[in-house]
Amino acid sequence: MTKPRVLSGIQPTNGSFQLGNYLGAVKQWVELQQSHDAFYCVVDLHALTSSPDPKELRKNTLTSVAQLLALGIDPEHCTLFLQSQVYEHNQLAWVMECLTGFGEASRMTQFKDKSQKVGNDRVVVGVFTYPMLMAADILLYQADQVPVGEDQRQHIELTRDLAARFNSQYGKTFTIPEGYILKAGAKIYDLQDPTSKMSKSAESMSGLIEILDTPESNTKKIKSAVTDTGREVRFDVAEKPGISNLLTIYSALSGKSISETEIEFDGKGYGDFKSAVAEVVVEYLRPVRLRTLELLDDPTHLSAILETGAQKAQAVASKTLAEVYERIGLISRA
Ligand code: TYM
Repeated sequence: MTKPRVLSGIQPTNGSFQLGNYLGAVKQWVELQQSHDAFYCVVDLHALTSSPDPKELRKNTLTSVAQLLALGIDPEHCTLFLQSQVYEHNQLAWVMECLTGFGEASRMTQFKDKSQKVGNDRVVVGVFTYPMLMAADILLYQADQVPVGEDQRQHIELTRDLAARFNSQYGKTFTIPEGYILKAGAKIYDLQDPTSKMSKSAESMSGLIEILDTPESNTKKIKSAVTDTGREVRFDVAEKPGISNLLTIYSALSGKSISETEIEFDGKGYGDFKSAVAEVVVEYLRPVRLRTLELLDDPTHLSAILETGAQKAQAVASKTLAEVYERIGLISRA
């Protein structure tokens, strides 16, 4: 029986991933590569929307690949590749752009937020067309499921709409993908502002746990996480957003359930709990950091993995694109 297919992507915007990227997405990628036909890409083209310095982009892209491997992505069990190395992504993105309404794209919250933040004259068109490139990433591989965090839900909805629209206009071509979004962990919050998601674009880094940061720095950040008045370690998002966020993190990394954890810290207070969270996080990330640094020492090995990945990805992507071009009436080369 053929395995269901998953595809997902992650931006190489900054050197290190943050804990939300791991708990909301990459942790599931690692699990799904065993049971699914998995395609994972570092979406370097998407990162261009924030105009990175070329040297930094190259470095961050390789650091992203090394981190994925260190976190458990196994090229023997999945296809790991760079988006920019499989040209079909841009080609299908154009077709998607010609299928998307201007108003529809204008309603995407990510575009609205960014354009409001920097102003219409400064926001690049790539931020506007970003979701259509993401739709292309997914649809090229006929993915059944897309493991992502909660913040990507609207993009997956658009992808589904575009796939259905294409299918009804030109005949069944695309699999309609489903989001694979966890109930717990799909949104990890900022440690200093536990009602906003943990994100690299936060104004301050003090609420952000970076996978590659030092144990000392991460311990300090967790110990100074904002908590609520009271002493009780109890999961209650409305009343105790800070403690609930730490409980989610602790539970996901220790493998203990939230209710088990509540019992473990019954009567112990926030200080003890935060120390335990810090220890779990630091011990979990310690080998990941070391392994990432080791992998970065061997760029030839990373390139070889990416080359194999690009070839495997392109074999699938080119087939889908050829079918799309045929259906929409483009003439193939003789
Ligand atoms: P990106 O690079 O911002 O984030 C990568 C993944 O991490 C998840 N994530 C979180 N999950 C829980 N809590 C958080 N605080 C948190 N922050 C980030 C994101 O939901 C995401 O799953 N547009 C995508 C990249 C992309 C993509 C794709 C994803 C491009 N093409 C095709 C899936 C399929 C993005 O910017 O993710």
